Amino acid sequence: MTITRPRGTNDLLPEQTIKWQAVETLLRDMCQEYGYQEIRTPLFEDTDLFARGVGDGTDIVQKEMYTFTDRSGRSLTLRPENTAAVCRAYGENKLYGLSKEVKLYYIGPMFRYERPQAGRFRQFHQFGLEYFGCADPMADGEIITFAWDFYRRLGLRDLKLLLNSVGCHQCRPAYRQALSAYFQPYLDQLCGSCRERFVRNPLRLLDCKNDACMRISAAAPKITDYLCDDCREHYQQVKRLLQAVNIPFVEQPRLVRGLDYYTNTAFEMVVDSIGAQSAVCGGGRYDGLMEEINGQSCPAVGFALGMERIFTALAAQNESIEAKQRVDVWVIGIGSRSTRDKAFAITAALRRAGIVCGMDYEDKSLKAHMKAANRSGAPVAVVIGDDEVSAGGVQVKLMAEGTQTFVPEKELPAYLLDRQA
Ligand code: HAM
Repeated sequence: MTITRPRGTNDLLPEQTIKWQAVETLLRDMCQEYGYQEIRTPLFEDTDLFARGVGDGTDIVQKEMYTFTDRSGRSLTLRPENTAAVCRAYGENKLYGLSKEVKLYYIGPMFRYERPQAGRFRQFHQFGLEYFGCADPMADGEIITFAWDFYRRLGLRDLKLLLNSVGCHQCRPAYRQALSAYFQPYLDQLCGSCRERFVRNPLRLLDCKNDACMRISAAAPKITDYLCDDCREHYQQVKRLLQAVNIPFVEQPRLVRGLDYYTNTAFEMVVDSIGAQSAVCGGGRYDGLMEEINGQSCPAVGFALGMERIFTALAAQNESIEAKQRVDVWVIGIGSRSTRDKAFAITAALRRAGIVCGMDYEDKSLKAHMKAANRSGAPVAVVIGDDEVSAGGVQVKLMAEGTQTFVPEKELPAYLLDRQA
């Protein structure tokens, strides 16, 4: 039986990776503009990191983790997200000692054992930002502006920002109580998972996608009615900042997100045209997470976007990223073995000079070589036959014009670079 890729995973083929690279380049350029530096953490971590960080009661920890025991009996988990891991690394490597504020980004695979469907995979890729050390709402504003502007620069339309505040450890207990009181009479109408959520963390009830549960939670109390003065002011300020940079938002008082670590700001961006998995990114503030993981408290805010969903969203809008492998010059060696060796050496020399160069190494007719040159899309072919070698040069052929010029070998790289400039 042939072996195929595991369910919920993808092979990214060259015509896709070149587009991914273009997106990654835009993201990395934007990180430079905003002052974020890259961090790379392991793909697997101690299971406790996610149980404690993401939250014992979340679907991610309860149902979706790839957890295994290694040969010495440690419980390890393929990272389902990266915020908890970046916090661990920030604390473990004492990055807080570098400066008061530390701004990090990452790109890489995440793993969740979810039911695969359009836009939902078991191995998927996230780009994310984590901004440590700034409690001011301007940090929240910066994160949201980055995400919004990124999609705009990509050309994505119909982007909707959903915004909420989930309060803090001061004001949330009263809200939890209000939620418990609200849901208590409906307990026997809730799904099995929600009955468990009711006991563990009633906030999670708001995140259930079951129709009956959603109907019941539609009239549940709103967290924004329970915010303490500080949280209310923080939320107001985030909204003022978004208005100042012309980013429209829709307040969504029941947006709690699928992870337990959020405090104050929580947000998602959705593109409705891509179907059920419409969230292209999500994030928020998580001022309590560092203390939970490392014992050292530190305000922080961040977001992550799904790389795969960028392409789904662009395709749904009939947009695509123009990125193609470029070939500057196609080299053709024709004639004796030593002539073809010369062509090989010239190709290497041109590549060393930074020219994107292709050559078909097989011994073929000129016609077959010219066909390959055309297919490559190179605007220039360099033809080397026995006569050219004797004369110490090559023929440079402009593909569009069909014209040909003899150029001495020594002058060739400079000649071609001049043409490109
Ligand atoms: P999240 O909402 O779980 O947040 O994931 C962020 C994004 O990753 C989603 O909006 C979606 O685009 C993409 N995504 C999630 N699961 C899948 C999947 N199974 N298949 C394809 N794409 C998926 C987080 O992970 C937080 N760590 C974000 C964050 C960073 N909060 C603060 N800092």
